[in-house]
Amino acid sequence: MITRSTIQKVNDTADIIDVVGSFVKLKKRGVNYLGNCPFHHEKTPSFTVSPSKGIYKCFGCGKAGNVITFVQEHEKLTYPETIVWLAKRYNIEVEETEVSNEAREKMQLEESLRIVNQYASNYFTQKLFETEEGKLIGMSYFKQRGFREETIKKFQLGYCLEDKLALPSEALSKGYNKEILIKAGLVSERYDQLQSIYSGRVIFPIHNQSGKIIGFGARTLKTSDKTPKYINTPENEIYLKSKTLYGIYFSRNAITKENSCLLVEGYTDVISLHQNGVEHVVASSGTSLTEDQLKLIKRYTKNLVILYDGDAAGIKAALRGLDMAIEQGLNVQVVLLPNNHDPDSYVQEVGAEGFKNYIQENKKDIILFKLEASLKEANNDTIKKTELINDIAETLSKINKLEEFTKQQDYIRRCSQLLQIEEAGLISLVNKKIREKAVKQDRFPREEAEALAKQAEPEVIPDQSEVTSLLQKDYAQEKALIKILLEYGNRPFDEQVSVADYIRVKIADGDFMNTCWQKIYTTYFNHLDETLVYPEEKIFTAHEDNAIRSYSIEALYFPYVVDKWEERHTIPVPDRESLYVEEVEKTVLFFILRKIKTQLTLWLDDIALNEKSDHEEMLEEDRILKLAYTELKKNELELLKQLRTVLIR
Ligand code: UTP
Ligand code: MN
Repeated sequence: MITRSTIQKVNDTADIIDVVGSFVKLKKRGVNYLGNCPFHHEKTPSFTVSPSKGIYKCFGCGKAGNVITFVQEHEKLTYPETIVWLAKRYNIEVEETEVSNEAREKMQLEESLRIVNQYASNYFTQKLFETEEGKLIGMSYFKQRGFREETIKKFQLGYCLEDKLALPSEALSKGYNKEILIKAGLVSERYDQLQSIYSGRVIFPIHNQSGKIIGFGARTLKTSDKTPKYINTPENEIYLKSKTLYGIYFSRNAITKENSCLLVEGYTDVISLHQNGVEHVVASSGTSLTEDQLKLIKRYTKNLVILYDGDAAGIKAALRGLDMAIEQGLNVQVVLLPNNHDPDSYVQEVGAEGFKNYIQENKKDIILFKLEASLKEANNDTIKKTELINDIAETLSKINKLEEFTKQQDYIRRCSQLLQIEEAGLISLVNKKIREKAVKQDRFPREEAEALAKQAEPEVIPDQSEVTSLLQKDYAQEKALIKILLEYGNRPFDEQVSVADYIRVKIADGDFMNTCWQKIYTTYFNHLDETLVYPEEKIFTAHEDNAIRSYSIEALYFPYVVDKWEERHTIPVPDRESLYVEEVEKTVLFFILRKIKTQLTLWLDDIALNEKSDHEEMLEEDRILKLAYTELKKNELELLKQLRTVLIR
């Protein structure tokens, strides 16, 4: 590992105007520089670089970061590779920390596997292009499939000779290690002899997202069903099926540009679509999607379109990953291809335009699709329908991020129409599921609610719409809190404590809704506790964790959040530079107020649920809930009062 101090040195030395300027033509505009964004196509420049802050931001595509992220994204390097790249440029010596023997061995093994895969891939392409057998068998197969030469080269397709001894003997003579060849899944040992596993097959190398070959798919050219159609690399240190998507390396730029990712089943579908001009596509390699694969897609887009060819197996597999995809915040749609077509055959028939149009016109939202399909299956069976309602509520409860509130409401409306049930009922059920999960995660412990309830007298329940409308807001309060923590954390709050101390006393562990803001918050105090030094902004804006980097930049440099509540409660907005203590107090209060509002909403749902019943227990629970609600409401009023004093003072 590269040492902290090297990273620090690189950070301190690398000049953003110098580095960005060597890739982008920059013009000075006031204190900033302006140029055409290298990350998307544009005619009028919207890519801004600020030398004083050491950051860039494109107002066209939204990409933002510092000198390290710029090199990383522009040159498609990993974080350590980027540090080395910059160190070279500025003649900084790269120091490495001691790694444990175990870690070193693991790294060496991974590196050996990558090297042997690269060797094997070269071997397979050489056989395809330069041997009689390769041309006659492998190449004519690809040609017959309609693959052009440039496509074959781009995807580095190859051929493995029929002779089982050819690959191992060449590899061994070149000094490749037997164990590594076996681990890479290229050969097996039989009767004291190494034999090629892929003999007589055409080869599809599998690349990771940075273009390294991590495995192979080898397709048979025989039609007997004795041998499997594809043999794939077995799981090893670098080929992890559940984390791999075929085509991601070749497709990622197009996925970003189209802001959409098509998911198909086969290697050949990806290749054929690319050849025909549809490049935002990956394949899951015949399994249902895993969480890691979804996360990989999410790095590039939130919109996933699953293409399937109408057999039940494909759609079942897609549906299995549905709740997971929703939890990841992905929008999932499905497209059924016309009869007997797979993506490969269909794009060959209608071309890129026709293909894209077909998708545009036929994509269906997967939640509604699932509901329609299950409704048909339930066919007026009441028990089945109840299960179905429960099931769909479970799915909808996974849409649980604040910024997705409108989306959830929309689904609830449409699903209740399809199910022919009352919308209010479905809302309650979904909220119940959300709450059950929250209780499981111990966010709103019950005892606390009861203790609160004991102290308070019941009051009138206020207008619900006011509270729920707040849920539609984004994480403005959380962002504002991080902003003041990073900016003013080391300044005195009063004679005794610093701003950071004050925040910690008031907010404790944070309990943020948004995990990225939480991460920054936790990192801040961990750093403070470990080093006893207040962390500088750079610790965050140059952090190796992507989320910490981009969120801290967002908090520090992009529009200052003036809370709408101030207008609502007719409170004047202070001038922030001269009044940072007031701003800190205000921000902390808003943060807590927001938490209370959220909690209030949850309790209101409970109350609404109970009001429909006249059961003894329910009534008792209802009373407790109302008490708790009132108590919270009091806290809220108290907070608002405090806020006024802070702001008027
Ligand atoms: P397909 O049978 O649709 O393969 O399986 P394909 O890639 O479209 O190949 P062609 O068009 O018939 O030549 C879909 C995917 O399932 C995996 C492969 O990843 C394949 O691309 N698969 C299929 C296997 O891993 N092993 C098999 O035996 C079959
Ligand atoms: Mn196919």
